[in-house]
Amino acid sequence: MCGIFAYLNYLTPKSRQEVLDLLVTGLKRLEYRGYDSTGVAIDSPDNKSIVMVKRTGKVKVLEDAIQEHFSGGDYSEPVLTHIGIAHTRWATHGVPCERNSHPHRSDEENGFVVVHNGIITNYNDVKTFLAKRGYEFESDTDTEVFAKLVHHLWKTHPTYSFRELVEQAILQVEGAFAIAVKSKHFPGECVASRRSSPLLVGIKTKTRLATDHIPILYGKDIRPHGPSRELPVLPRSESTSEFMPLEEKEVEYFFASDASAVIEHTNRVIYLEDDDVAAVRNGTLSIHRLKKSLDDPHAREITTLKMEIQQIMKGNYDYFMQKEIFEQPDSVVNTMRGRVRFDENSIVLGGIKDYIPEIKRCRRLMLIGCGTSYHSAVATRQLLEELTELPVIVELASDFLDRNTPIFRDDVCFFISQSGETADTLMALRYCKQRGALIMGITNTVGSSICRESHCGVHINAGPEIGVASTKAYTSQFISLVMFALVMSEDRLSLQQRRLEILQALSTLADQIRAVLKLDSKVQELAKDLYQHKSLLIMGRGYNFATCLEGALKVKELTYMHSEGIMAGELKHGPLALVDDSMPVLMIVLRDPVYVKCMNALQQVTSRKGCPIIICEEGDEETKAFSSRHLEIPRTVDCLQGILTVIPMQLLSYHIAVLRGCDVDCPRNLAKSVTVE
Ligand code: F6R
Repeated sequence: MCGIFAYLNYLTPKSRQEVLDLLVTGLKRLEYRGYDSTGVAIDSPDNKSIVMVKRTGKVKVLEDAIQEHFSGGDYSEPVLTHIGIAHTRWATHGVPCERNSHPHRSDEENGFVVVHNGIITNYNDVKTFLAKRGYEFESDTDTEVFAKLVHHLWKTHPTYSFRELVEQAILQVEGAFAIAVKSKHFPGECVASRRSSPLLVGIKTKTRLATDHIPILYGKDIRPHGPSRELPVLPRSESTSEFMPLEEKEVEYFFASDASAVIEHTNRVIYLEDDDVAAVRNGTLSIHRLKKSLDDPHAREITTLKMEIQQIMKGNYDYFMQKEIFEQPDSVVNTMRGRVRFDENSIVLGGIKDYIPEIKRCRRLMLIGCGTSYHSAVATRQLLEELTELPVIVELASDFLDRNTPIFRDDVCFFISQSGETADTLMALRYCKQRGALIMGITNTVGSSICRESHCGVHINAGPEIGVASTKAYTSQFISLVMFALVMSEDRLSLQQRRLEILQALSTLADQIRAVLKLDSKVQELAKDLYQHKSLLIMGRGYNFATCLEGALKVKELTYMHSEGIMAGELKHGPLALVDDSMPVLMIVLRDPVYVKCMNALQQVTSRKGCPIIICEEGDEETKAFSSRHLEIPRTVDCLQGILTVIPMQLLSYHIAVLRGCDVDCPRNLAKSVTVE
């Protein structure tokens, strides 16, 4: 998804070259979000204009273009104050090309330049309004209308401050956005805002910050009029004259879509909330809101990030995804750390413990997510039903919203999301919250929108996941939901034996994951056999059906090969027609309550000349005999098998992707955090 990175230094001398280097590094940190083009804007050496460089393709292409573009000018002079804005674009409106890349400008003189993440849904109305006033558009994007709208307001309201102009423009647009704006008319100033798209401000000072909070300034409640009512007819914000600054003399600010882009500079950040407008002028940061509601706080907290820079570096691995697969013995332990007490057979989930009595009284549990996060719900549904004895409904967020699903006050709704920012999941959360349900967030990103908007939740603590394809977040989501099921059954006498069995298996899980990771070279050999095929069918049932779905998703997204996860019980209802001696089939057949049924499916496949690759338990000679090739995994309790069976699938998709020459960490057309519907 698009990424924003902006930098402002105040009384901290930096040459333009240094500013450019910072911008490019910031963009590199955001690469994992997925993008197809990039761009930067900085001031020219004479400070008279804004220079933009944009390119389609990777940040490296932009980096080379920047070097070429600026090779003649003097970019080494230190400048006391400078603002640079930068962007990685993931196309939504208009094809990926230089013309559609950000920053977008207001006019030929680059009076205002804007980087934007999200979708302005009423951009056509705004465009028509501006076109009538003589504005011509040079891109197909929704973003360009924002830059031109600010310009129009500036021309018609020459006394407005930069912040006020942006505020007024924000009031006219609908949809989701995070923006950062720079202007030649307001040198030394930067204004940024968000609505339903993440944005944070990093603050770096020489000495420790004297405050942990930035007060919020509220303007007069201004009702948006919108272009249809003929702009501009807006009353002026009353907060103009107040400017309650963060009083630091030498300071650097970073505006970014996520923390991984700022962590190497500072660990002090403010997560902006929807409709916050953050403005920097004369080196001081202020946060404004145009409307005040009853529960609005008086200040935004400056939080300290716990993330380390090493956590987002690749180390000795070739790809982030590979590193993240191999981190799973540690990440699952981190998910359980401080929560599971193996010596006492007990579990405490601090983020939900006060809500347990309410949850136990609920009508049903609803698990909602997208993609891999949805699969973690599929994987744990059966155990949740067994240990909570409640109806458990699993929903794809997008479909859930399409159906206007009935939600009741006594429902408990789980929103599962690695990023905590997925637009469909967030919309579904708001939908359920409005209807009075209890909202529980299961996320990997502290401070994310889903975290903040949930009543309670579990942070999965998997560590930053940079590869676009989710791996360690899946296994940690899985464990988090298992821990929840164990908490819910703590006082059920009849379930104690089962709980002990699961707790025992959790205690050895990390070692078993290590054992599965040792299959890596064997999986690589399998990948060599498979990578030139067009399709791969993955079959299983019961606790392993989720692995089939997740395995097929990994293969599709990473290798661009067709793959389908098939419920083995459904084989004879259609998919069996696909099976012949040339169709690659992988089957999961473990010694659990559905073993006999899986063997039945296996025989259906082999009797159609299928030669399945089998994932089976160590030493299971009988099952192995039916396979062309096999991968043996350690035996564990049935409800945790899905963690051990998904790892060979992650490795297989990774190796096939490498062999097919695909971009493992940034698959085409995909984004790490999908912040648009
Ligand atoms: C697949 C993948 C996606 C995400 C989905 C939801 O590897 O990563 O399917 O799982 O986009 O993202 P989050 O979990 O951030 O809500």
